[in-house]
Amino acid sequence: MRVLGIETSCDETGVALYCTERGLLAQALHSQTAMHERYGGVVPELASRDHIRRVLPLAREVLAQAGLERGDIDAVAWTEGPGLAGALLVGAGIGASMAFALGVPGIGVHHLEGHLLSPLLSADPPPFPFVALLVSGGHTQLMEVSGIGRYALLGDTLDDAAGEAFDKSAQLLGLGYPGGPAIARLAASGRPGRYSLPRPLLHAAHLDFSFSGLKTAVMHAVRRGVPDEQARADLAAEVEAAIVDVLVAKSVRALGAAGYSRLVVAGGVSANRSLRERLEAACRRTGARVHFPELALCSDNGAMIAFAGALRLGAAGAAGATSTAGVPSGRAIDGFRVRPRWPLEALPAA
Ligand code: KG4
Ligand code: ZN
Repeated sequence: MRVLGIETSCDETGVALYCTERGLLAQALHSQTAMHERYGGVVPELASRDHIRRVLPLAREVLAQAGLERGDIDAVAWTEGPGLAGALLVGAGIGASMAFALGVPGIGVHHLEGHLLSPLLSADPPPFPFVALLVSGGHTQLMEVSGIGRYALLGDTLDDAAGEAFDKSAQLLGLGYPGGPAIARLAASGRPGRYSLPRPLLHAAHLDFSFSGLKTAVMHAVRRGVPDEQARADLAAEVEAAIVDVLVAKSVRALGAAGYSRLVVAGGVSANRSLRERLEAACRRTGARVHFPELALCSDNGAMIAFAGALRLGAAGAAGATSTAGVPSGRAIDGFRVRPRWPLEALPAA
């Protein structure tokens, strides 16, 4: 089965073609970063309008890359939520229309399930069960994953997400958007320790996170003065170290709490090199294994949506259009919906 996946939940238009027999056939991505940069963050209306312009050309590009035609598409998957309502509507509207026009099944996919399952697309996919650390711009969650749709929440952020902490700190430091890669680049020439930032909830008994205090501490540090470029790099290094310290400590504790020896990390922040190295080292010490998505699949992309859609459709027997929420629509397709807020734990097991 060849599934076309469409991702439009935020500021990346991603389209990909995944084949259940041959794997990922092609993918194409357009990032809106340059368009939103001057505003210091994503402008939802601009995002929606740009997705409208990009989806179909990217779909054509993907088909050309794979040497296939429209008629070779066996199913269409799109991101149903969570995300920006207008942006989601574009991908869902186009995806559902394509499925209707082609007379093939269509499915709305949970964006975080896409991230969560993306390490399964790697050459050495992790078997279930595992603990997942989901770290993106909007989410920081530890989940116990025993199968597709079998997700138990172990810990969640009480306020800002890890990616948001990177982005807001970057803004305070006068770095561009998105902040994560910018902080990481600057941190490479800095040293943590010159500035002292809190590691919120590091020693708490529970597995929840809180990053808003960190942002406030960065604000005070910037106000007190960052005299030169080296100081800026040192502060960036301390920001990265503070976030990574908390993510690593809680992930290791979550593995212990669940009694698992496998950790899967996904979401935009999983591209962070320091996080990868520190988690590799911590897992090696405790005899656990850690899996990451390929670097190209860490941030938002169409491949993870095509893949999650294929798994869900396979489980449903590809009988007709469904939403991941398990609402069958009977015939090929007769509508779609988007869910800007949609907890991952609400998904049914496949
Ligand atoms: O998963 P994603 O692409 O979009 C959401 O679903 O939110 O994640 C985007 C987030 C942003 O906050 C961005 O700053 C962060 O991932 N990010 C990073 C890195 N690359 C992206 N954070 C730290 N280090 C990176 N290398
Ligand atoms: Zn994402």
